[in-house]
Amino acid sequence: MSDMPSLDESPGDSFVSAAARRGPLALEAASLNKDFGLGRHHKLHAVRDVSFKLYRGAVIALVGESGSGKSTVAKLLAGQETPTSGSIVLDGEPVDLSSLRAFRRYKSKVQLVFQDPFASLNPAHTVHYHLKRPVVLQQGKSKGDVELEIDSLMTQVRLTPADQFLGKYPHELSGGQRQRVSFARALAARPSVLLADEPVSMLDVSIRLEMLSLLDDLCRRFQLALLYITHDIASARYLADEILVMYAGQIVERGPAEEVTQQPAHPYTQLLVASAPDPDNLGSALRKGASRTGKPPDLASTALEGCPFSARCEFAEDRCRLESPPLRQVSPARSAACWRLEVVASQVLAGEKGGKGGTTS
Ligand SMILES: Nc1ncnc2c1ncn2[C@@H]1O[C@H](COP(=O)(O)OP(=O)(O)O)[C@@H](O)[C@H]1O
Ligand code: SF4
Ligand SMILES: [Mg+2]
Repeated sequence: MSDMPSLDESPGDSFVSAAARRGPLALEAASLNKDFGLGRHHKLHAVRDVSFKLYRGAVIALVGESGSGKSTVAKLLAGQETPTSGSIVLDGEPVDLSSLRAFRRYKSKVQLVFQDPFASLNPAHTVHYHLKRPVVLQQGKSKGDVELEIDSLMTQVRLTPADQFLGKYPHELSGGQRQRVSFARALAARPSVLLADEPVSMLDVSIRLEMLSLLDDLCRRFQLALLYITHDIASARYLADEILVMYAGQIVERGPAEEVTQQPAHPYTQLLVASAPDPDNLGSALRKGASRTGKPPDLASTALEGCPFSARCEFAEDRCRLESPPLRQVSPARSAACWRLEVVASQVLAGEKGGKGGTTS
């Protein structure tokens, strides 16, 4: 072990986010943990010590296989689940959602869009109804202003002419149109943070790229701090400034999207990138759908000791099964939780030492 070059552990405050240059800090998740009880004696550790920051005008992608804890992170940030430990800070204020008033105010600033727009829209109500409520509630505008605002939202999500859509019910719209209504409804609250949980994965492959481009556009235009959740690392590369790779409830690698996808450091990220159909060609990756990366971990049986990836990792050695690796800094904006980075990411580290492959801006 003594011949290993030393890599900083737990980068903490020295960590530079690739998203920070876009705009001011909006929301911070600090050491979030979420356990679910399974019967009397078992606990499932769905989220383990997850920390990150969302900046206005920037996209952070949370990437991982199904069951890795992504939606639980979104629910914690949206106030739909209570963390077992850890904290959330919004605009510099620690979040305490114990009063209804505080909860309402928080919810207007932090909006969540789901994978399935059908499930989140009320089948009994028109598009106009879905948008009018949040506009009136959040903005207290006069009647004329409300209609103008609704019109403007429809234009922003490219549902025009608005009159053709406002009177329709969810079942009269296509999947893509329904998701646009969900986006418009989220924006109606004038949020600073948008949490988008697999927002394109239920849509027809032919329109996914267009919807991602719309999200990108909305993020810049409204200076949203966007958390884009996906199992598809190719789409994360397309949309995000920074990528957080999640495995078994933990962040195992984080860094600038381009670096993480071009030269993944963690063995799990390497597997995700290798099994994406063609990381250089997003169109083809999106058309072919989900990547095949084998069986996701069973969180209930994933021990807290040791590296969660050790059962699937070709580089695993004894230490990996005994001690959990902390995030170790690979470059100023990049870190990975692996004991064997000197072996598995030697090229990344060599590039960093030679002054190449570091942060790109
Ligand atoms: N309310 C719940 N009660 C018990 N287990 C849950 C609950 N919600 C999620 N889980 C479990 O937590 C793990 C992470 O789930 P989830 O956050 O939905 O992952 P992802 O969104 O990455 O697919 C899964 O094993 C899931 O079964
Ligand atoms: S710590 Fe060990 S088991 Fe875990 S990813 Fe690194 S080499 Fe593989
Ligand atoms: Mg999910």
